[in-house]
Amino acid sequence: MGLRHVFEGKVDKTPPLWLMRQAGRYLPEYRALRAKVPDFITFISDAPLAIEVTLQPLRRYALDAAIIFSDILMVPHALGQKVEFLKGEGPHLQALRTAQDLQRLTFDQFDHRIHPTLSALKGVRAALTPSQDLIGFAGAPWTVTAYMLEGKGSKAFDVAKTWMVTFPQEAAQLLALLEEATIRYLRAQVEAGAQVLQLFESWAGVVPFTHREAWIYGPTRRIVQALKASHPHVPIMGFPRLMGPALEDFVRLTGVDGVSFDYTYDPAWVASHVSCVAQGGVDPALLVVGGASLREAIQTSKKAFQGRPYIFNLGHGVLQTTPPDHVAALVDFVKEAA
Ligand code: CP3
Repeated sequence: MGLRHVFEGKVDKTPPLWLMRQAGRYLPEYRALRAKVPDFITFISDAPLAIEVTLQPLRRYALDAAIIFSDILMVPHALGQKVEFLKGEGPHLQALRTAQDLQRLTFDQFDHRIHPTLSALKGVRAALTPSQDLIGFAGAPWTVTAYMLEGKGSKAFDVAKTWMVTFPQEAAQLLALLEEATIRYLRAQVEAGAQVLQLFESWAGVVPFTHREAWIYGPTRRIVQALKASHPHVPIMGFPRLMGPALEDFVRLTGVDGVSFDYTYDPAWVASHVSCVAQGGVDPALLVVGGASLREAIQTSKKAFQGRPYIFNLGHGVLQTTPPDHVAALVDFVKEAA
């Protein structure tokens, strides 16, 4: 059973599954290709490579969906911001500071820069079986904004938040630009073959309570509405990471069709508080260790969602230190009868 059946309300004996970061550095065949192209933006902007990397985990494991290989920082790159990935340090962007910095972000290069990802979507869709779904994605406006302002990864994004609160007009302008870019990007992904969409709001958990509507719910709701208007049959999932009980508000106030929940939640709480399709939960660290604790976490999740529309996933991305055999074991555990 594919992901789309779940959104139609169908429930099977075992849930369909995919994993956040199912492609990536834990796979030796990924590392071999990546070693040939040191610059990550160049790597994800090569359509044949992106197709190959997207398909790698599906060759090894009985996954029900492919997620297109790209990155949420593709959008700032497409808007003309300088984005680099430094070895062992993660992303580095030329941080935005002034109104002039915002003015320099344009759509001039946008279509050209997203084009390889759209070609890759077409290529991947052609290689999948009809029962395998293709997931397109983007970062949600706040999470992408956070990187654009901070200039790098961070535990709390204090620089980005301080800037947003100090310059509310510019903050609103930046979020509106990201909203527009995200709508354009996701619509293009659907036209290229994406059948389900995911919006990553990985830094939802650091937003001040007073700014959740302006930074998270509003932009996400407008993206969902715009996509519903043009492509009503494409399910949209959100991943508001580390939001605690506000997960309920997120679902209600954004109108997403599905929600990913991180590993801090009791799946039984999610099952009783969230009305849309849910996915997620299992801590990627348990997948690194494998064995009985992984199996127990999977069983707990499956039990909590028994009889309800549910997609199996982890509570965050597969970690680099994950032994590939453990992913095979996870797939077996998920496909085991309850
Ligand atoms: O298989 C898939 O899930 C598709 C590919 C994908 C990547 N990034 C590839 C990637 C997806 C869906 C993402 C999303 C992404 N990127 C998020 C949201 C999800 C989350 O993890 O919370 C975020 C916040 C980013 C930004 C980003 N990209 C960071 C912080 C880093 C550095 C840290 C890290 O994990 O390396 C990246 C780099 C990145 N994106 C890699 C991959 C495979 C590693 C790059 C490499 O090969 O060196």
